[in-house]
Amino acid sequence: VSLKTFNSFGIDAKANQYVNIQSVENLQDVLKTEVTKSIFVLGGGSNMLLTKDIEALVLHLNLRGIAIIEETEDYTIVEAQAGENWHEFVLWCLDNNLGGIENLSLIPGNIGAAPIQNIGAYGVELKDVFHSCEAIHISTQQTKTFTNQDCNFGYRESVFKQELKGQYIITSVKLKLSRRNHKLNIGYGAITSELDNLGITNPNIKDISKAVINIRQSKLPDPKEIGNSGSFFKNPVISKNEFKKLQKGFPNAPHYVISESEIKVPAGWLIETAGFKGKRFGDYGVHNKQALVLVNYENALGKDIYALAKLIQQTVFRLFNIKIETEVNII
Ligand code: EPU
Repeated sequence: VSLKTFNSFGIDAKANQYVNIQSVENLQDVLKTEVTKSIFVLGGGSNMLLTKDIEALVLHLNLRGIAIIEETEDYTIVEAQAGENWHEFVLWCLDNNLGGIENLSLIPGNIGAAPIQNIGAYGVELKDVFHSCEAIHISTQQTKTFTNQDCNFGYRESVFKQELKGQYIITSVKLKLSRRNHKLNIGYGAITSELDNLGITNPNIKDISKAVINIRQSKLPDPKEIGNSGSFFKNPVISKNEFKKLQKGFPNAPHYVISESEIKVPAGWLIETAGFKGKRFGDYGVHNKQALVLVNYENALGKDIYALAKLIQQTVFRLFNIKIETEVNII
């Protein structure tokens, strides 16, 4: 099976063994019978770069369904199955006047992957509304509930990328969303100015979603048109001392203060300053509106994009003495 249409980078890698999973029972059965095989879990395929064909058994998780689990006057707990598309879920919540994830509009991928990297944008992270998730332990097929605390969320981090990497498959996620007195997150400069552009002075959650969609569409390529996986790198967090050194050479370096001792520098700025923004190498390159995004114009090979990523990392390190890590999973 070709995985080209199942990964947002549009890489034409193949799965030698492929199963389409439609239910939790189906998943448990397959894991039980194929227990000796190595497993590759495929969800929305929006945060991976395939650099070769997959020898492992590919489990394509297509569990669907959205249900209200609990409701009070103030909040609703909603459960969505892992194979639901994230953005369609956001729109469903907005239609039901549920607040909390409007800033996360238009993030590609499925619900099941959202906790793994604690998706975040425009001042909101999944962890701010995450209630719990259900997961299946691959080797025993037991189900387990993970609370917000159990997930140990951080910036693009969770227990599923650390201690429990490769051990569990997330099958559904519960979020706690507001039903009234929505707490709006409009602190992010880009949102305020987009709301201004739209002439909105008293925004509601749908207005914020609209603003976020406009901002994302203006600088992030649509994976349906140009293959990509969003931010290819994480924004590096460096010490105050390291930042002082950076400022000597680059007094205008943009940055966000994270804590007393730590500063986050936008990787997009480092990559742009290193001269890569908009650079095209045949069928692949660096997006011209956001340097953090690597793109596949048509039929690029994953290994070529990976080589470009390494060249960018080396160049950034040479120029700024800062290491940038990939955000995308390299397969
Ligand atoms: N910048 C440049 N050149 C560029 C891009 C960015 O100089 O080509 C500098 C500018 O100074 C800009 C600053 O970087 O003001 C921040 O840029 P932007 O607002 O686009 O955000 P980001 O830090 O590049 C992060 C997330 C995005 C998320 C946005 C908005 C990461 C790795 N990326 O990007 O997430 O949408 O903030 O909150 O944290 C994703 O994870 O796939 C993703 C798109």
